[in-house]
Amino acid sequence: MIVKEVEFVMSNQDAEVIPDFSAPEYAFIGRSNVGKSSLINMLCQRKKLAKVSSTPGKTQLINHFRVNKQWYLVDLPGYGYARVSKKQRTKFIAFIKDYLTNRQDLQLLFVLIDSRHDAQDVDIEFINWLGENQIPFSIVFTKTDKNKQSETDKSINSFKAKLMEFWEDLPPSFRTSSKSGMGRDRLLAYIEEINKNYHSKKLKK
Ligand code: GTP
Ligand code: MG
Repeated sequence: MIVKEVEFVMSNQDAEVIPDFSAPEYAFIGRSNVGKSSLINMLCQRKKLAKVSSTPGKTQLINHFRVNKQWYLVDLPGYGYARVSKKQRTKFIAFIKDYLTNRQDLQLLFVLIDSRHDAQDVDIEFINWLGENQIPFSIVFTKTDKNKQSETDKSINSFKAKLMEFWEDLPPSFRTSSKSGMGRDRLLAYIEEINKNYHSKKLKK
């Protein structure tokens, strides 16, 4: 897929006020600093579309971007960010969960996992919550440029093994680097395929 045009649409902190765009939507989530905003910029080949920061907690709102006037990318705040107050974190989690469980046109949630780290309980618990709520997702292992491939393989395999303690099989996963662009073509092709199904389903209705 060629990304010709990307526009920032809006930021929200209340899932209920986001308009129904009647277009396929894809959201990106994961722990703070895992590289969600960077991945959105990499996919769109724009440096400053989504705000990136080395300080965790940069993205605090639900941010919608429209691609090629046809589909939406959504940058979400990170979960598991320790430096915000407990009250603020509970509020965050509530509005993210509200968005994820109620958004009709959300086709897929990309759950980002740092490819350098061992499995963290907060990620496993979040993924299990997605399963319980039947929210379709894929896993994206980020920052693969930062380690040797053998080390990346090792941590990805151990993450998957941990998940397999709870799941019978796992959805497709991706490896990305926002620095080198690794994974961009595969991710965009995957989105394009789902977009096609979305439109053929709408035609049948
Ligand atoms: P929050 O909005 O705070 O939850 O973070 P985020 O998940 O959106 O992360 P963000 O994209 O802001 O990136 C965090 C830091 O990691 C920044 O310093 C990025 O430059 C860096 N980073 C993100 N992706 C990659 C990558 O693929 N490779 C390398 N080397 N650095 C990356
Ligand atoms: Mg961000």
